Amino acid sequence: MTALPDFDEVIDRIGTHSVKWDCMESLYGVSPQEGIAMWVADMDFRPPQAVQDALQTLLHQGVYGYWGDERAYQAAIQWWMANRQGWKIQPEWIFTTHGLVNGTALCLQAFTQPGDGVVLMTPVYHAFARVIRASGRRVVECPLVQIDGRYEMDFDAWEAKMDGTAKMLILCSPHNPGGRVWTEAGLKATADFARRHNLILVSDEIHHDLVMPGHRHIPMAVAAPDQPVVMMTATTKTFNIAGGHSGNVIIADPALRARFAATMAALGISANSFGIAMATAAYSPEGAAWVDALNTYLDGNRHAFDAIVNTIPGVRSMPLQATYLAWVDFSGTGMDTAEFIARVEKTAKIAANHGATFGLGGNGFLRFNLATPRARVIEAATRLKQAFADLQ
Ligand SMILES: Cc1ncc(COP(=O)(O)O)c(C=O)c1O
Repeated sequence: MTALPDFDEVIDRIGTHSVKWDCMESLYGVSPQEGIAMWVADMDFRPPQAVQDALQTLLHQGVYGYWGDERAYQAAIQWWMANRQGWKIQPEWIFTTHGLVNGTALCLQAFTQPGDGVVLMTPVYHAFARVIRASGRRVVECPLVQIDGRYEMDFDAWEAKMDGTAKMLILCSPHNPGGRVWTEAGLKATADFARRHNLILVSDEIHHDLVMPGHRHIPMAVAAPDQPVVMMTATTKTFNIAGGHSGNVIIADPALRARFAATMAALGISANSFGIAMATAAYSPEGAAWVDALNTYLDGNRHAFDAIVNTIPGVRSMPLQATYLAWVDFSGTGMDTAEFIARVEKTAKIAANHGATFGLGGNGFLRFNLATPRARVIEAATRLKQAFADLQ
């Protein structure tokens, strides 16, 4: 058994073409030398050693031709879904895309027409709306409601928004932002809603492995086995290998699968050998032990962050059930958005995602990425406390 990772190790990513660190100055005006990058959702950790070894094997041979023979890759995915997610899948259900933003875009091409509406439960991962609009479809925003400080679905209110022009619903499960693990009842109700309104149901479960102790993620395909669903999963978020740009769209329903296959063929999509090599190595017992250690560490990070940030009057970090993305509400400070953002970016020198980019209900929030060594998380929370010191 390989030794467990040292998530406390600070790895300098500046100057490595890391979008999180090397683009923060141009996007947020925060210099990476003085600042802390807490925006885009990748981690400042190395992946499991098995992943590094798989890449070393490729490098050692040094021939980088076309990739083929997917049996080991498919078997690894099958093993992971059965053992970690309680979900039995068949190899022929699996499509490999260039990540799940690409997977979302492919679903839009396969299952909708220009002008169609696509339902999103907002606030939600911003790239959904971006690709929906870029492909000439319309975003139908269905705002989540906050009950007892966490997000809940609100189907009664959403009925009024359904006029027959929406054709697809994209669920984010677990939910980004807000870190919500949806309940079985919520998942079933989502499937019923999709069925009632003839919406193709797409479930983006990229965060499904990053679940805090005490919570359990249920795949949509397990919660609603009779509902045709397009499942999207990936190793990239779980193992911090997003640069490998590969994701899986998994479709049990033969009719939906045929439509998706036709779109993949029309766009000439085929797999990238580096992403596949990393993913195959990651979906292993060693990868599983690494994820368990990671989740324990991330749980410690979010407790450390919340313990400081929640002492700032008017500021509240939503308790995470999943993901490493703290969703922090600044609306209780009484400040307008420009003012609290200026304090975070200019005074605390932290780059965090702006809430409004996540759609309706996001304004007033910032999203902080906590997947970084704990000392840096504590430093960031302390800087935030100082930046709002006049409120205390
Ligand atoms: C819900 C969700 N889907 C997809 C992605 C990105 O997927 P990829 O890097 O595979 O394109 C993210 C990244 O944060 C995400 O949060």
